[in-house]
Amino acid sequence: MRGRGLRAAAPLVFGGYMIKFDINAFETPYFVIDEAALIHNLDILADVRARAGCKILLAQKAFSAYHVYPLISRYLDGTCASGLHEAQLAHEYFVGENHVFSPAFTDKEMPELLEMCDHFVFNSFGQWERFRERMDGKNCGIRINPEFSTQGAAIYNPCAPNSRLGVTREHFRADMLDGIKGLHFHTLCQQDAKDLAATFMAAEKAFGEFFGRMKWLNFGGGHHITKEGYNIEMLIQLIKNVSAKYSVEVYLEPGEAIALDAGYLVSEVVDIVQNDMNIAIMDTSAACHMPDVLEMPYRPYIIGSGEADEKAHTYRLGGPSCLAGDIIGDYSFDAPLQIGDRLVFTDMAIYSMVKTNTFNGIKLPSIVLHKANGNMEMLKTFWYDDFKRRL
Ligand SMILES: Cc1ncc(COP(=O)(O)O)c(C=O)c1O
Repeated sequence: MRGRGLRAAAPLVFGGYMIKFDINAFETPYFVIDEAALIHNLDILADVRARAGCKILLAQKAFSAYHVYPLISRYLDGTCASGLHEAQLAHEYFVGENHVFSPAFTDKEMPELLEMCDHFVFNSFGQWERFRERMDGKNCGIRINPEFSTQGAAIYNPCAPNSRLGVTREHFRADMLDGIKGLHFHTLCQQDAKDLAATFMAAEKAFGEFFGRMKWLNFGGGHHITKEGYNIEMLIQLIKNVSAKYSVEVYLEPGEAIALDAGYLVSEVVDIVQNDMNIAIMDTSAACHMPDVLEMPYRPYIIGSGEADEKAHTYRLGGPSCLAGDIIGDYSFDAPLQIGDRLVFTDMAIYSMVKTNTFNGIKLPSIVLHKANGNMEMLKTFWYDDFKRRL
């Protein structure tokens, strides 16, 4: 039954894209980066950048597939890194500005960061004080905490009570702004322009008196710009207003919006067991290959599937690890699943490849590039050594 190709016979349509790749082409599990979908997102972002007159950076934490950095760098201004290694990746593969923010920079990583990065965002005035003498010629900013949030999940809320991320107004040091060229806030997660507008108003209320002294303001990430229905015109207007009012350059640093719906994970049914319901054991793991399914949590879409009991045959899909909670979710299908069937999970480019791990020694999914010209290119395969080297 191997490669029976559960959905291969019918056209695989999702998010306006027809999946044209052969889902039986490679050994599972494997991620597929959809270059055409990526270009679609980049076109939208390039249009925002041009019409708003702002700069847009790739937040590498969401998507670090450096094989496509040369492509992305044709559309965007640069990258933002969460620390030394992301900064290095951008330095090697991305042509553009290299911004770095860390909750706390260390002395030992600073010499390399200084070689590679042009923009440094500090999380406290203590850090700024500690490193400012070494920042000659660098473009430095402070991350502020507007103490305002339009989202609920505490784990994704940098403005939750007692957050360590960003300087609150109470601790802001107006007397230490010499050499500071920008202010940065990041509070959003998968949100619309109206949430940014509300957040900006809160930031302006608390910190607006300093905006005029800055060269740039960075509105962080979490802007769901490439999601259908996002209010792009409102975003553009807001950026134009802010740039004009304060004579600043506005930066956005989305991660998710860049590779939204631009990736898949192809996995195979390895066994089917029963325990008051049908349970399919897959060769992909929620815990190891898509940890956000458990952490966020969220339910990935599988092409051709429905909610539990929506279609004739319902299965709980579980991973091959020992973790009892390694469950992807309950899904229904028109036909019974068979061992060897392949399922295609969508929107698997963002916060997936960057978060995989080898718990239980489980093999990492290979990474395939589905090029805009239709060709499939195997970028990476992983084996025992990848597990062993980490231990
Ligand atoms: C400082 C910062 N910038 C940008 C991002 C990217 O956010 P998103 O991928 O939601 O656009 C994040 C995400 O956590 C972040 O912490």
